[in-house]
Amino acid sequence: MQEKVIILDFGSQYTQLIARRVRELNIYSEIHPFNKMPELDGNVKAVILSGSPHSVREENAPNPDLSEIQGKYPLLGVCYGAQFLAAKAGGVIMPSKIREYGRANLNYVDSSSELLKGVPTDSQVWMSHGDTITKLPESFNVIASTKDVQCAAYKIEDESTYAIQFHPEVYHSTDGATLLKNFLVDIAGFSQDWTPNSFIEETVADIKAKVGNDKVVLGLSGGVDSTVTAVLLNKAIGDNLYCVFVNNGLLRKNEFNSVLDNYEHMGLNVIGVDAEDKFLTALEGLSDPELKRKAIGKTFIEVFDEEANKLEGVKWLAQGTIYPDVIESVSATGGPSATIKSHHNVGGLPDFMKLKIVEPLRKIFKDEVRRVGKAMGIDPELLGRHPFPGPGLAIRILGDITKEKVSILQEVDHIFIQGLKDAGLYDSVWQAGAMLLPVQSVGVMGDERTYERVVALRAVESTDGMTADWVHLPYEFMADVSNQIINRVKGVNRVVYDISSKPPATIEWE
Ligand code: XMP
Repeated sequence: MQEKVIILDFGSQYTQLIARRVRELNIYSEIHPFNKMPELDGNVKAVILSGSPHSVREENAPNPDLSEIQGKYPLLGVCYGAQFLAAKAGGVIMPSKIREYGRANLNYVDSSSELLKGVPTDSQVWMSHGDTITKLPESFNVIASTKDVQCAAYKIEDESTYAIQFHPEVYHSTDGATLLKNFLVDIAGFSQDWTPNSFIEETVADIKAKVGNDKVVLGLSGGVDSTVTAVLLNKAIGDNLYCVFVNNGLLRKNEFNSVLDNYEHMGLNVIGVDAEDKFLTALEGLSDPELKRKAIGKTFIEVFDEEANKLEGVKWLAQGTIYPDVIESVSATGGPSATIKSHHNVGGLPDFMKLKIVEPLRKIFKDEVRRVGKAMGIDPELLGRHPFPGPGLAIRILGDITKEKVSILQEVDHIFIQGLKDAGLYDSVWQAGAMLLPVQSVGVMGDERTYERVVALRAVESTDGMTADWVHLPYEFMADVSNQIINRVKGVNRVVYDISSKPPATIEWE
């Protein structure tokens, strides 16, 4: 049995952060859209209501029925959640007279409140709201205020129901973690036993129960998610897991052999398929990025399918899907149009394969995947690898793909990435790589005129790939890498560095 917190999502940009902050306390949390109430089984021990882009004053604002929750479970309303609970009981919510975004400091804290134990009177909090509670219902008592927001936190008498106007989940609320811990541990009684090891134990038991003695096939990519998926499954079902690792000819230099080696050393039952020629043939003459992606996706399915069909009696397909891929998000209009993203690396398998799906990481975030991997003894170097796109170097070679272009880019990329590692910069960069541009430029080498290719280097910092900024790499480092590339890679005579952020640019050029 795994105790859990339900986070009812009203569409706030911070909902995922609430889930993560709760999990950092070793307490398991799940996000559910407000309009799809989850089953309140014996494992649920508390509920949190998120913020929202909506105002409770709107006619069609989210308005779920909480009668099975309020007064029955410890309940914490955050921002919209606080206003919603107050409005529902007859409180008054008005547009704020002054803007309440960003930093603020409490100036009153009810020190006897269990929720605010250890929170100093002048604690810094993060506000982000256009409405404010101007009058609380009868049995609601203010337990914290700021200069501008009298009702920054309240408690409902005779209920374990608390609410706060500010956001405890953002780091700028310096005592946010204390407040969440007070709510979850002292008020709701969680035992904080959700750790990487407990996750591994539970997941391995789940896989055993679900899959039994069936055979499972998994496509390995060399990335963190598929590797951790493989090791978890291997723990549960041993050699009944068949991993397929495809060389599409668009991987980094030496990557196919070195990753294959790694997997074999880890004791995985892995089939390496060298399909370079097939992919390059499928890509012949294609310049449009989306057509290239499609050709690669289609070829991958063909190759994977052929391999899976060679294995007799396979019943399951394992995938490295993680939590952000499956969280049902509340749409900006608050309507019931919840969408689920599909995992874009595998891209769906043909219907006739009719395999059942097993996704052991579908409840955890990327950083948690890394922690689980570490707890299972996976090489830290493998766990710390930069993200790499499924279509590989094909979307870093602008225009059509040839074997010669791939090998030029592999050399350039290798010098850059190895350089980052040697200079101790690799781990502080979220993702780095090189692009081969469809441009030639004039240069001079020795006394000769050259007319050769241009490459662009890109290194970004990011937390999830959704937004990113270019990394201010040291000039000396860039000078050295540029020199090495031009001197060692035949066919390249110019190196440029990409200084665009995302948005408006993207990380990849295609
Ligand atoms: P962009 O270029 O959209 O990339 O800023 C964001 C992240 O996604 C990766 N990426 C892909 N990954 N298949 C993938 O598996 C793709 O087609 C693809 N396109 C971009 C990119 O490397 C970055 O980490």
